[in-house]
Amino acid sequence: MSFAVETDRLLLRLWEESDAAGYRELVGERGGDVPTIPEAIDEIRDARESAPGRGIHLLTLRRRGEDEFLGYCGLVVGRASIDEPEIAYELLRSAHGHGYATEAATAVVDAARATGRRRLWATVRSWNAPSFRVLEKLGVRRDHTTTDDRGDIVWNVLDL
Ligand SMILES: CC(C)(COP(=O)(O)OP(=O)(O)OC[C@H]1O[C@@H](n2cnc3c(N)ncnc32)[C@H](O)[C@@H]1OP(=O)(O)O)[C@@H](O)C(=O)NCCC(=O)NCCS
Repeated sequence: MSFAVETDRLLLRLWEESDAAGYRELVGERGGDVPTIPEAIDEIRDARESAPGRGIHLLTLRRRGEDEFLGYCGLVVGRASIDEPEIAYELLRSAHGHGYATEAATAVVDAARATGRRRLWATVRSWNAPSFRVLEKLGVRRDHTTTDDRGDIVWNVLDL
C-alpha cells in the first residue's frame, strides 16, 4: 500500500523518529508501559524498516499543513494475515470526535483496494462502541466472535 496518503483534512505518512514523543503519549493514554524515548525510536525504526518488505503498515496522522501527531491508522497482520490484513486505528484523546478515524480509515481502505486485496478484517473488543461506529461508517459487517482471557473479540469483515 502507499506510504503517504492525503485526505481532505489529513496527511497519513510513514512513522518518523520525531513521532517518538507522540507515540509515547498514545501508549500512556492506553494505559500501557510507556517506552523510553530510545525504545520508542527503536520501535519506529523497526516499523519503518519492515514496512517495504511487508507491503502493509501503520501510518501516522496529522492535519494537513500541521506537524502535530494525532495518532495512526493503517493495515497490520494482527490476528489475521498479510493477504487479508486488519485495519487498525488509534488517536490521541484530544483528536477524538472530529471524524478523523473514519476519514483516515476510508483512505486506508482505498489504499488496500489498490493493492488488489479482496478483504480486510477488524477485530474489536465488544465494549468498544466508538470503534464499532467507525467500522459501521466504513460499511464493515460483523462476522463472528471469539473469546480470549480478556473477553469477547468481535471479528468484522469488509469485502473490497
Ligand atoms: C476508535 C477511535 C479511533 C475513533 O476515533 P475518532 O476520530 O473519534 O472517530 P470518528 O470521529 O471518525 O467516529 C467516531 C464515531 O463514534 C461515535 N461515538 C463516540 N463515542 C461513542 C460511544 N461511547 N458510543 C457510541 N458511539 C460513539 C461518534 O459519535 C462517531 O460517530 P458519528 O460520526 O456517527 O457521530 C478512538 O476512539 C480511539 O483512538 N480509541 C482508542 C483506540 C481504539 O480503541 N482503537 C480501535 C481498536 S479496535
